Amino acid sequence: MSRRYMIAGNWKMNNTAAEGVALIKDLKAQCGGCCCQNEKAPEVVVCPTFTTLSAVVAEASGTALKVGAQNIHWAENGAYTGEISGAMLKETGVTHVIIGHSERRQYFGETDETVNKRTKAALKHGLVAIVCIGETLEERASDKTEAVVERQVRAALADVTADDMKNVVLAYEPVWAIGTGMVATDEQAQAVHAFVRNLLKSMFKCPCVAENTRILYGGSMKPGNAAGLLAQPDIDGGLIGGASLKAADFLGIVKCAL
Ligand code: PGA
Repeated sequence: MSRRYMIAGNWKMNNTAAEGVALIKDLKAQCGGCCCQNEKAPEVVVCPTFTTLSAVVAEASGTALKVGAQNIHWAENGAYTGEISGAMLKETGVTHVIIGHSERRQYFGETDETVNKRTKAALKHGLVAIVCIGETLEERASDKTEAVVERQVRAALADVTADDMKNVVLAYEPVWAIGTGMVATDEQAQAVHAFVRNLLKSMFKCPCVAENTRILYGGSMKPGNAAGLLAQPDIDGGLIGGASLKAADFLGIVKCAL
């Protein structure tokens, strides 16, 4: 498989700048080389809150750790209270951005359409877009998982070219598994990942898109269950919430991707 694993930590609304720097120091002290520049090592990304970004970028500089934001607005500037532009993010030194997380969709009115606008803004600014998709428990119970995921993927990637897809990573995060400790089984996750990869095959003429696009799993991934998930043929890494807040847990997952 040519796809390089990505392990991305979504810190959510946790860690002040001082706490974020302390966590990066812990990661550096404990990583034992697993976050180093090495083709075979996973790409490791941490995604702090906006006010923590610059300090974490500075502390991570000189390592292979990459830093991402948790949101981006599509306008260049203007009257959009509480939002942040691509140029503002670039200025902090981040290289990645999470888009369309289910918490944004559930609590902050994010829609398929705004996810698409944010994705295109990230690409325009040369950021890697980590685009989140996933069904709720009700949707899974009523057998709508594939329909929901297909709708989300098609909408998020509207007007995104095959070339742009080099900078897109998808994250399948079943909503019922996020922060609940109720992880999807290896088989449940693999089935949706394979479905998404097939969907990419049908959406893009070049088979290279489906072959090369990384699809991460997210939702209660921990050191104890990561190996099984990461061994699945279509799971190319993880988007980690709770377990990304402690260096030992996060590195435990990173090591499963080595
Ligand atoms: P969790 O969160 O690992 O705490 O379930 C994952 C996510 O929301 O990205």
